[in-house]
Amino acid sequence: LGQNMHFLESCPSTQIAAHQLAQEDAPDGTVVLTEEQTAGRGRMARRWHSAANKGIWMSVILRPDVPPQKAPQFTLVTAVAVVRAIEQVTGLKPEIKWPNDILLNGKKCTGILTELQSDADGIQALIIGIGLNVNQLREDFDPEVQDIATSLKMESGDDVDRKQLVSSILYFLEQYSDLYIAEGFGMLKLMWESYSSTIGRPVRARMAKETLEGMAEGITEDGVLQLRTPDGKLHGIYSADIEMTN
Ligand code: BTN
Repeated sequence: LGQNMHFLESCPSTQIAAHQLAQEDAPDGTVVLTEEQTAGRGRMARRWHSAANKGIWMSVILRPDVPPQKAPQFTLVTAVAVVRAIEQVTGLKPEIKWPNDILLNGKKCTGILTELQSDADGIQALIIGIGLNVNQLREDFDPEVQDIATSLKMESGDDVDRKQLVSSILYFLEQYSDLYIAEGFGMLKLMWESYSSTIGRPVRARMAKETLEGMAEGITEDGVLQLRTPDGKLHGIYSADIEMTN
């Protein structure tokens, strides 16, 4: 990964730049990194605040030979890779909140957004966007996210070397996506669950059309959250916002 790196001083969104490169046949493992995004995007059509020079705003193009329904697992694989990198570089102990948020002390330091280019032949490209808050202080965040966001510097008290983090993320992402392709999700699912703050806890899942409350029991091989409601039914949650209810 990262043999083919594109650095942009500023751009609307590395996702947009990576989609474009993927359409122009950029090879598997191409990485787009920027210092500043003017229109960073998050899940569910939200904005992603991307302060200049303080974070890691990057998108990775992967071209795995797997069916499109396996795409969500790459989000989980990426989350494990980013957690390992944060641990390795800072010694902090992050947690994963299903499906793709990385938290420190209950506040979000990383978001992951996986998008797909596919056609009748299957996946053409996966565009994995990683937004990691590194050296921001509280006042660098937009007021509306100041209470729910954090950075590695705010949690560790030190400036963190962004180059070292990028290379560590790419190292683990390559290792784990190769492992996933070769052996499936088994080992990575165990790692994901061991870092998860969601599993084994009572949660509320807000979906587009309904909200369910119950116990988060685990994830399936496909990364679907298994939620047991008080009537004993097990629900598969594909996409939702999760809140802990205790
Ligand atoms: C989320 O909603 O939690 C996902 C946020 C993903 C943000 C990253 S920053 C790099 C890449 N470019 C974007 O515009 N978004 C992703």
